[in-house]
Amino acid sequence: MSTPDGGTRPAPTDSGPRPSTPTTPTPKKDDPAMAQRIDVKDLNIYYGDFLAVEGVTMTIEPRSVTAFIGPSGCGKSTFLRTLNRMHEVIPGASVHGSVEMEGVDLYGADIDPVAVRRQIGMVFQRPNPFPTMSIEENVLAGVRLLNKKISKSDAADLVEASLASANLWNEVKDRLQKPGAGLSGGQQQRLCIARAIAVKPQVLLMDEPCSALDPISTLAIEDLITELKKDYTIVIVTHNMQQAARVSDRTGFFNIAGTGSPGKLIEMDDTGTMFSTPKEKATEDYISGRFG
Ligand SMILES: Nc1ncnc2c1ncn2[C@@H]1O[C@H](COP(=O)(O)OP(=O)(O)OP(=O)(O)O)[C@@H](O)[C@H]1O
Ligand SMILES: [Mg+2]
Repeated sequence: MSTPDGGTRPAPTDSGPRPSTPTTPTPKKDDPAMAQRIDVKDLNIYYGDFLAVEGVTMTIEPRSVTAFIGPSGCGKSTFLRTLNRMHEVIPGASVHGSVEMEGVDLYGADIDPVAVRRQIGMVFQRPNPFPTMSIEENVLAGVRLLNKKISKSDAADLVEASLASANLWNEVKDRLQKPGAGLSGGQQQRLCIARAIAVKPQVLLMDEPCSALDPISTLAIEDLITELKKDYTIVIVTHNMQQAARVSDRTGFFNIAGTGSPGKLIEMDDTGTMFSTPKEKATEDYISGRFG
């Protein structure tokens, strides 16, 4: 994963040893689909004493793409990280309020944060494959860190299925043993998506996944997002308004009154409505480029 300053550590889905008796927010038995609904209520997010994001209440629908837009520093990344309990790995960071996935409180006392991070995967702004690992081992990295036993043939199947889902299989199938770092930026980002998918999450969080990519790779990732939403709940942060309009079903606009003030969710609606007839003037100003 990327640290907030853009450095790299192992991906979040890879993080930490798995406790021996983790409690997992299990998907409903009668619902074989992977996508899950998330309900956030009255969420306040702190770094130490600093209230970074205040009073967020929203529902994120399954099998759809939800986009977050808003000016730099309004708390989009901070909020995103609370959805899979990545926020709390920052020293002094805390969260008040509730985040529920299919009615299960992800911050409940009996919930294992590592299990939450496996179910709610994350893709970051800068592609961050493990540079010395082969393409194949990159895809399997999350699975390996979860200490899952997997046979050689199952591993090969999983590598192919994950790379195919990430729309990368055809480009790399003849060089699976070559280092992940040898791919182009757009390919590396799709490799990171394959790695996130390989642990079979129910939700994918993406923080500006295309900001380091050229327009063609960006479109490839956007096509991929549209494809993935058939199975997953997807949340994407983007500074690119056209991208939000192209890929998302719902859009949330975050804003900040000024430096030191907390970021707030100003408005959230169907993307078409948000970009044509937003209710709040601040939203209209932002999407029409009159912000600030
Ligand atoms: N690790 C941290 N420690 C302390 N404060 C932080 C940390 N990360 C972010 N913040 C602060 O939290 C607030 C929200 O930051 P955040 O990175 O979530 O904004 P953002 O909307 O994602 O901005 P951008 O569009 O630039 O990525 C900012 O005031 C930021 O300085
Ligand atoms: Mg950010």
